[in-house]
Amino acid sequence: MSSARENTVLKLHQLFNRHQMSLDSQETAFSKMLFATACRHACSLQKLIASFVHKKIPAKYQQAETILLTATAEILFMDSPDYAVINEYVNIAKKHHLTPLSGFINAVLRNIIRQKETLLKNYRQIFFPPSFKEILSLDYTPQTISDIENASCIQPPLNITVKQDSSSWAQTLHGTAIDSQSLALNASGKIETLAGYKDGLWWVQDYAASLAVKQFSNLKNKRVLDLCAAPGGKTAQLISAGAKVTSLDSSRQRLETLAQNMDRLHLEPEKIVCADALCYLSEFQDEPFDAILLDAPCSATGVFRRHPEIVHLKTPEDIKTQATLQYQILQNIPSALKNGGELVYCTCSIAKQEGEQQITRFISEHPQFKIIPLQNSKEPNIITPEGFIRTLPFHFADIGGCDSFFIAKLRKELSDGQ
Ligand SMILES: C[S@@+](CC[C@H](N)C(=O)[O-])C[C@H]1O[C@@H](n2cnc3c(N)ncnc32)[C@H](O)[C@@H]1O
Repeated sequence: MSSARENTVLKLHQLFNRHQMSLDSQETAFSKMLFATACRHACSLQKLIASFVHKKIPAKYQQAETILLTATAEILFMDSPDYAVINEYVNIAKKHHLTPLSGFINAVLRNIIRQKETLLKNYRQIFFPPSFKEILSLDYTPQTISDIENASCIQPPLNITVKQDSSSWAQTLHGTAIDSQSLALNASGKIETLAGYKDGLWWVQDYAASLAVKQFSNLKNKRVLDLCAAPGGKTAQLISAGAKVTSLDSSRQRLETLAQNMDRLHLEPEKIVCADALCYLSEFQDEPFDAILLDAPCSATGVFRRHPEIVHLKTPEDIKTQATLQYQILQNIPSALKNGGELVYCTCSIAKQEGEQQITRFISEHPQFKIIPLQNSKEPNIITPEGFIRTLPFHFADIGGCDSFFIAKLRKELSDGQ
């Protein structure tokens, strides 16, 4: 049997060596927290550990580096008893054929524990590796990148969307109501045990993600196509607002999760369609929809606060590939949307290639679509000069920040130009 620590070491090793990660199903809450902590601190800890390691670790024992990284993250940033941690990691080393290095691992970790207080006092967290900074530098100034990094170093609060009455839920769950539907909670432990979860009265959703559906005009009785819908956070918002929703996704497995989520929430999409968005739209012959939500497949480079491994994984190539797919899906939207209908396009990517640039190009190539400028009285800085929403982790600082999302609202004008 693998322990949570061992799983974390293996998963980090896969991450840093760019192997396919495959351990999700075995994860426990502890393992998730340890993995996220190690990813968030990896750049600083690699430097810190190097100052304690005075010989080169042979290539065949490379996994020792991941063991030291995971153990140091746990020693410095989690509440585990120090010496128990050493024993655990030395045993993991032995189990993974690193017995010749077990004494060395033991000695390095003991030295780190001895100097723990000083190390923490002088600690400066670096979250983004150079490769991720390069991605950001295509779109943001060094000052903005530094602000993004500083705002992202902490474990973000849990955000939820409620069916109704966020202020009374704020009291029940000891959280903060952000608006009439969203809350920030400092809850730790199992989400399933919180009041209202089992009864299906709320769902987990980052505040920035919740803003996309909130941009539609009145949705009551409107036929809405939710393209790329699984696991269903935005479908749930659309149905709660009174829309008749067709939820489409290309992943059967993720649609099963969507169906389970809708069961728990007692919300029913009108249709659930398992299809590639591109095929579905290019063959579309039905009555056009009143509104379309395209939460497009993307690089996910905007959700590194909650998935810190992303900063170590993503490349400019990932952004380019997703931008091409988004462009193709967008090209096929017009015939599926009624004249006068609204299109909300969003991505959880921080790259402007998948957001601002994508929609600017779409508008220039489809003059029948007009930008509806968005507003936000709580955080006006999220509105771009074009009238789009671009959230960054330092926005909504009073509720613990948010993920980076891009949102645009467009209207398809009547064909005769009215
Ligand atoms: C960002 S997630 C959607 C999140 C969802 N809208 C929500 O609020 O819960 C993107 C989704 O796009 C789906 N997807 C990726 N490529 C697709 C394609 N070509 N056609 C349809 N769905 C696709 C993925 O399976 C994934 O579920």
